[in-house]
Order: sequence, then structure tokens, then C-alpha cells
Amino acid sequence: MTAQNKDDHAAWLMGTSAECEIATASSKTTWRLILLGAPGVGKGTQADLLHQKLGACHLSTGDVFRAAGRQSECDLSPAMMAATEFMRRGELVPDTTVWDMVKERSGCLRCGGGFLLDGFPRTLAQAESLKQLMADEGLPLTAVVSYDLSATEIVARLSGRRTCEQCRTVFHLTDRPPKVEGACDRCGSKLFQRDDDRPESIRVRLQAYDRSTAPLIEFYNHLGLLMQVEASGPPDDICERTLAGLEARNAERSS
Ligand code: AP5
Repeated sequence: MTAQNKDDHAAWLMGTSAECEIATASSKTTWRLILLGAPGVGKGTQADLLHQKLGACHLSTGDVFRAAGRQSECDLSPAMMAATEFMRRGELVPDTTVWDMVKERSGCLRCGGGFLLDGFPRTLAQAESLKQLMADEGLPLTAVVSYDLSATEIVARLSGRRTCEQCRTVFHLTDRPPKVEGACDRCGSKLFQRDDDRPESIRVRLQAYDRSTAPLIEFYNHLGLLMQVEASGPPDDICERTLAGLEARNAERSS
């Protein structure tokens, strides 16, 4: 299967049977970044902006599970079917399912265009598996960007989020409203509210983050890869802060 446009991420979303039309980034730096942060902090929004600036591909594990949820049940393995249920409840998908899915797409991690990993790794076991794979392949991570925001702002962002059913562009009812109510600015398709943005699932997701994902901050700090970024304010400002931090790290490393 072939991607329809450069933002389709077909190989990531659909696995080994798909091919991307994405041209390898022409920039001299291959960016291999992990975006960390609680659900709703704005990782997907930032990945979209950083993709435009750095060329690296936005690889979201949540997007793969959501794409699986839209397929017919007979096309899904039992593990992927179970994964869509975990996601709906706001619980983490088991590590083995996540890692099998990422391994199947490891070509995306080797891609010369680089990557912006969003939503993976999410547990220490996933982080260890990724570290081993990157070491085996000789692919160093550039940095791990950890976004910080208060719990109150996070809940407000999640409850107002609307996503395009076609191109996955993310909006917010009040902070980033679409020009036409209910329709995507980019492709005109319908916007929907994610199942896991209901209050009961939001609670479970925030607990899962505190329990399983927050320890990764220390894991990557210990490896000298962590870069913390304040995630309040307009998306463009946060993106500028991220780019300035990355530049400063690069300059420090080459001095
Ligand atoms: P996933 O899709 O990864 O969701 P998440 O981590 O919960 O993150 P979100 O997509 O909810 O938020 P975001 O930080 O990307 O924020 P966004 O940019 O959209 O995972 C979903 C599920 O899949 C998991 O719960 C789990 O079940 C499963 N899963 C996935 N990966 C897994 C893994 N590795 N292991 C196990 N299970 C896994 O922004 C949110 C809203 O805020 C939007 O409306 C946006 O417009 C708005 N906004 C963004 N920035 C700003 C700003 N600066 N100011 C105002 N509004 C803003």
C-alpha cells in the first residue's frame, strides 16, 4: 500500500505491508527524539510542529492502536483486538503487544529522515527494549524531550480536544478551534472526540502515567538525554522553546 501524501506515515500506521512516500529529510542532522509527558500535555501537537521544522517523522503508538480500532475485527490479531480495549479504558497496552508492534515497524526507526516518538516508550521495560535495539543498530538518540504542565491544564486540554478522523490533525474547542465548527482546517473531514477523553478514562490514564511512565524521566536523565520543557503557553512558543533547547544541546556537544 502506498501513502497518499507525505504526512501519511503509512509504514508506521499500517506496518510492513505499507510504503511511505516520505522523502528522506535533506537537513544535515538526523533527529531521533522521544517526546515524553503526561496524556494531554501536547506531545502530538508539538510532534506536528517539530515535524514541520525538523523533517523527522511523527511516530505515535497511540495512532497505530487507534488505526487498528478502525479496522474490521477479522483483520486484527487477538493481541491487537485486546489492545484497542485497553486503550478505550485508558489503561496501558501490555508491553509484549507494544514491543511486537514497534519491532514490526523498526524500519521507521532506521529511516534516514529520523523520528519523533510520541507515546513510546511508556514503561521501563519498553525503554530498555528500545535502548537495546538502538544500540544494536548503532542509532544514537538525539534527546528525550519531557514536557511539563499542571494537572488542571492537562485535564482542560484533554476534555476540549477534537481530532480529524482522516488526517489526525488535533484541535481544541477553545484554545485551537477549527475555522469551521466540526471540520478539519487541513482536509475538511469530520472531527471527533476520542473515547479515552471521557472523564473516567482520563483519570485512569493520568494514574498510569504517574505509575509507569514518570519513572522514565529519571531513566533518561541518568543517560544524559533528558531535556525538560515547560508546556504552558501557545503551541508555537513551546515549539520555539524546544528548538532552542535542542540547538543549545547540539552546540554544547560539538564544543
Ligand atoms: P496516546 O495516543 O499516546 O495518548 P496520550 O499519551 O494519552 O497522549 P494524548 O494523545 O492524549 O495527548 P498529547 O500529549 O499528544 O496531547 P495533544 O497534542 O493531543 O495513547 C493512547 C492510548 O494508547 C494509551 O492510553 C494506551 O492505552 C495506548 N498506548 C499508546 N502507546 C502505548 C505504549 N507505548 N504502551 C502502552 N500503551 C500504549 O493535545 C491535547 C489537547 O490540548 C488538544 O486538544 C490540543 O489542541 C490542545 N493543546 C495542545 N497544546 C496546547 C497549548 N500549548 N495550549 C493550549 N492547548 C493545547
